[in-house]
Amino acid sequence: MQIHFEQAGASFEGRVAVEPLTLSLTERRIGIIGLNGSGKTTFARMINGLVKPTQGRVTVDGFDSASDGETVRAKVGFIFQNPQNQIILPILHEDIALGLKNRRLPRHAVDAAVDGILRRFGIERLSGRRVHELSGGELQLAALASVLVTEPEVVILDEPTNQLDLRNRALVEKTVHGLDEMAIVISHDLDLIRDFDRVLLFHEGRLAADDAPSQVIARYRELAA
Ligand SMILES: Nc1ncnc2c1ncn2[C@@H]1O[C@H](COP(=O)(O)OP(=O)(O)OP(=O)(O)O)[C@@H](O)[C@H]1O
Ligand SMILES: [Mg+2]
Repeated sequence: MQIHFEQAGASFEGRVAVEPLTLSLTERRIGIIGLNGSGKTTFARMINGLVKPTQGRVTVDGFDSASDGETVRAKVGFIFQNPQNQIILPILHEDIALGLKNRRLPRHAVDAAVDGILRRFGIERLSGRRVHELSGGELQLAALASVLVTEPEVVILDEPTNQLDLRNRALVEKTVHGLDEMAIVISHDLDLIRDFDRVLLFHEGRLAADDAPSQVIARYRELAA
């Protein structure tokens, strides 16, 4: 899996959110850190075409994320910063099953896959619950399950431990570390990305550092001071 940015940048109504940058992402565990509003989410959304670059281009295994967004989004799962925005159907089991719709599996195979992913996250008990009644932590785990059930090659998690209590945070951390898929994790929770392969630091829309976690976290502390 190769994600490539080629002089790719994004602006909103003429205001630059991400300055044009060129880089390739291939590592299994990549962290993204930086202050609020520094461009992290915009950068991540450019990977799967949720934000189209206003200059340059982004490719995933050679597929252009803007013009071939559908192919790219099948490869790249995205768990939003506010997971309530990505859950569509009212009952959790049905929402997760929706992700498998295109596979044309028989109903019992869909149910087995949904039950399996809920078990993996220890949330079988939420299967029949109404999504809008879930707590923030339950919702985060549910969103993770609904994306992973589609078996993407890469998952992007935008602040996955936000709102989680210590137990659920540990569960998410363990899940992220144990993923077979490549993972790109945006986080203000620096412990979560401490032993990742590579960390990117954004500052005022620019890539301010791109290195091993300890160096990048040290630079972030300087910039934030
Ligand atoms: N859809 C949009 N329309 C207009 N401006 C936007 C949009 N999305 C992001 N921005 C602006 O782009 C800049 C970068 O935002 P972004 O969401 O990428 O930051 P972030 O680093 O993820 O911040 P946070 O840590 O608060 O989530 C901000 O100034 C933001 O207001
Ligand atoms: Mg963000």
